[in-house]
Formats: sequence, structure tokens, C-alpha cells
Amino acid sequence: MANEENFVSLEVANRYMLLPVQENSPEAKIGIIKDNLQVGVYSNVRLARERVDYYVPFELSEYKGEYVTIDIQGVPENAICWRYFKVSDLFDTTNTEKFRPSYHHTPAYGWMNDPNGMFYKDGVYHLYFQYNPYGSMWGNMHWGHSTSTDLVNWKNEGVAIAPDAVGTIFSGSCVVDHNNTSGFGEGAVVAFYTSAKQTPWGDCQTQSMAYSLDNGKTFIKYANNPILTSSEKDFRDPKVFWYAPKEHWVMMLAVGQHMEIYSSKNLKDWTKESEFGEGHGCHGGVWECPDLVELPIEGTKDKKWVLICNINPGGPFGGSATQYFVGDFDGSTFTNNYPEETKWMDYGKDHYATVTWNNAPDGRCIAIGWMSNWQYANNVPTLQYRSANTIARDLSLFKQDGNLFLKSEPCKEMVEARKDGRQIKTVNVAKTETVSLSPQSDNGAYEVELSINPEKSKEVSFTLSNGKGEKVLMIYDVVKKTFSMDRTMSGNVSFSKDFPATTIMPVGKSKNLKLRLFVDKSSIEAFTENGKYVMTNCVFPSAPYDTVTFESDGNRYKVNNINIYQIK
Ligand code: FRU
Repeated sequence: MANEENFVSLEVANRYMLLPVQENSPEAKIGIIKDNLQVGVYSNVRLARERVDYYVPFELSEYKGEYVTIDIQGVPENAICWRYFKVSDLFDTTNTEKFRPSYHHTPAYGWMNDPNGMFYKDGVYHLYFQYNPYGSMWGNMHWGHSTSTDLVNWKNEGVAIAPDAVGTIFSGSCVVDHNNTSGFGEGAVVAFYTSAKQTPWGDCQTQSMAYSLDNGKTFIKYANNPILTSSEKDFRDPKVFWYAPKEHWVMMLAVGQHMEIYSSKNLKDWTKESEFGEGHGCHGGVWECPDLVELPIEGTKDKKWVLICNINPGGPFGGSATQYFVGDFDGSTFTNNYPEETKWMDYGKDHYATVTWNNAPDGRCIAIGWMSNWQYANNVPTLQYRSANTIARDLSLFKQDGNLFLKSEPCKEMVEARKDGRQIKTVNVAKTETVSLSPQSDNGAYEVELSINPEKSKEVSFTLSNGKGEKVLMIYDVVKKTFSMDRTMSGNVSFSKDFPATTIMPVGKSKNLKLRLFVDKSSIEAFTENGKYVMTNCVFPSAPYDTVTFESDGNRYKVNNINIYQIK
């Protein structure tokens, strides 16, 4: 028989069994049997058949000193994993990857997608995320957990919520229950997530909850999960927040290609209030990871509600992207003020699953996104870990021509994180001018700020490049008022046909273009006018980009106040 079920019985003496993984192997199943009963759930692991790409740790610490049987299903007898299983008390998470960013959040090892359940409490920002601890490809969804006091430096806190008999743990949110409406305890942190289960009769998605009495470190699952069910196939990503005027909680859910809005007094019993989405915005794919926030309008005392809607596929440059709607919300129903339009939050290829922090300080609305795209996320050239998050962004609204748009500013902590800055006052470009970004760019993680005065030019173009001939071409089209980024020659682009691309965005009215570029080993985030228009793209250069070369269309232009910073 080619595929077998194998039982390995052992007296547990170590914390981990280390599993050898080969990324292009099919998934095998691994689980624990104790006293003839299955304990916990089975995990899918790409156990090595011909070669070992890396190891992942399989936690056995709770059985130390006891006899257990490891049940391994779906691995042929001649697979090399049988020779490479190890037991150990240690698993080395020292960074081994040259593309791992230094000031963006990444998991210590394994796969990450959507940011989940972010909340702020007692001076700490909590960030959970879709996490596979058993390989660097999507699967076995857990909530991983990281914390930060400055939104720039992140500490890995391990797994917070693991799969159970109700399902694997898909995306969702947390709230701080200040008034103990749930009865779990004053100040309890309550998490909402989608339990996703594959059954022989099809996929099933339901909503579940868990609560934490130790500020989000550990969670106790609610005994009566799931709390919301539906016959819809795509029914997920609960985002919960408090709506003060009606003194109730609101839950946003992504259901196929629309959103559903629910309300509750106690976080446990939910009533459907309304639906939103049919005929609005882009419908090129499934709607996922909703959020609904009230934001101030720059320069006024007014506020409007913004419904964030991640969509995959259907993004402006293929695959996943984030659209949003601006309008009114009365605690039950969302009304879109611009029903004729599709608005995009970020014009790059790598900005997805963006949601905001609950209970953020000083009235701030802080968002973070997953810096990848479902078109190729599983295939990007990293191994120890896969995917990073964007830098955190402060959200507000701005007016232009009587219309309202979302502004995503780099969070103010990014300014505090600057160090060893260097300024170049003015570069006059007649034909070609080259500026070195070194030494700030030496480790590939830096910020460049600049202001382009095009004078009579119709097109201002410049490249970020390294000594290997790899470059990212950016063009400010002064006539069309657009900014574009071409990564087709940026480095390794061969892992997916969808990766080489040029992305383009509007830049508003002003003639001078102010730019902040955040470069971090394998990503570039471009903010014009400090966040009015934003573009996030991943890149995989073989050496850091250390040079910027400005080129003219024959007319002279000026680049002012070039500031280059390292990031602390
Ligand atoms: C978005 C998403 C969510 C889902 C999660 C599963 O990227 O598809 O809708 O909850 O990923 O990992």
C-alpha cells in the first residue's frame, strides 16, 4: 500500500517532536492518541518525502513523562521523514532569512496571513494573526499573538487560540469589555473568530468566541460555541465594536459578496439588523475581513463612517485588495454616500485583510494590513516564515472636490523610530542625477522622504536600485496626476506570473509631490501627501537598494528635502 497509517508510541521525554517538512509534499495528518483516545485535533503537515526544507516543532510538553501514540497518516513508507523525525527541548527561531523585514511585524516561524483581534490595553498593543505553526504555507489556522508598546517593535507571544472540534480558527476581532456586559469579568478581552470546519458534506463556517482574563495572553473558549451559524458557505471574519448611542455591540460579518450587521447587548446573543453591499463597489471576488469605523474629516469638526471591505480576487491590479465605502451608520444600517464609486484604500498589490485596533488610545483609529496577495502569498521566496504586515497606519478622512476619501498616514510612531538621518537639501535634475542612500540603506531597512517640484516637466521618473542591476521604477506623471511603481525588474520575480507588475494611483491636485517611502528588505510602501494616496508592494532584491537615480524628460526639475533615515 502506498499510503499508510503509522503509529509511533513513545514515552514523552522532550518538549517537542521536530517534524521535517518538504514544501511541495502533499499534506499528511498528524495527531496524538492517549489511552486509545484522540486528544486535540489532527494537524496537516507537509512531511518530507525526498528532502528536508526545514523543521517545525510539534508541542508535546503537556505529556511529559507519559506514554502517547503519535498517529501519522498519509506518508508512504519510503518517505525520508521517517529517518528525520527528532525530539528536542529546543526549537531555534533565530532569523535565518535575508528577506525578513526589520521594522515590520513577522511571525518567528511559519505562515501568517490576516491580522486579527487587535486591541490596546494598559499601554500595550496586541496583534493576533492567522497563523500556521506547522509550515510556511497556509493551513491549520491558529491565532498567533504578538505585542508592542510602540507599533514598530514586536514581541512574539506564541499561539493564543488553537483549533478545536468546532473548527480551525479563522479571522476575527477582540473587544475590551469595560463594563462587563458579557459577565466574563470587568475589562475582560473577548475574542470573536470564525470556526472553519471541513466536513464530508462541505465546508462549514460559524462564529465562535473566547475570553481572556489576563490581557489577551491566554483565552478560555466559550462553552456554547458556536454563537452564530448560517447556511451560507462564506460566512466569516466577525468584527465587533461598541455603538454608544444605542448602547449595544455591533458585529460586522463578511457573507459571500455582502456584509451582514448584527447587534447584541451581552456579546453572546446576536440579532441580525441589516445587510449591505449588493450593487455597491467592486464584486470581482469574495468580500472578507470587514471593519466599520467612525473617522474625523480633516479640517472640519465632522465625522463619517467608513466601511472597510477586503476583496479577493477583484483588486485593481489582480488578486486581493482593500476597498472602502464612506457613509452613515445608525447602529443598525450602513448607508453608502457614494454608491456610484469604488474607492481603494491602497493601490499596491500587497495590502490585504486590513482592520483596525479596538480601544486605541487618544481617539486614534489605527489600521494594519497583511502585506501580501493571495495570488502568490504561498510562493514568495522565504522559507522559515512567510509574510509580513504593513506598518501601522492612522486613519482619517479628507475632502477633495466635494468627495470624501480615506487617508492612511504612517502611524506617528514611525517618526519617533527614525535615527541617524541625513538630509540632501536640493537635487537639480537636468538629465540624470544619482543619490546614494548609503549608509542608511545598508541593511535594507530605511525611510526616504522627498518632495518633487516638477517645474516644467511632464514626467518625473526615478529608480531605487542596487549594484546587481535590480531596480524599482517610479514615475510621477505630472499631466495625468498619477504615481506608478514598476517592480518587473526588482529582483526575484519568477516565483509567480502574477508578481511582476506595475501599479498606478492618482495623487490629487497639488503640483509638487511629497513622498515618504518605507523600504524594509522585501517591501516598499509609498505614501504621497502623508497618506492621501498609498501604494504597498513587495520586492525580493538580491541586495538592498542603495541608490536613487532621478531622470528627466528633457525639462529640468528639483527634488527638495531628501531625508534618509534608519529605523530604530
Ligand atoms: C482572508 C481570509 C479570511 C479568512 C482567513 C483564513 O485572507 O480568507 O476571510 O478568515 O483568510 O485564513
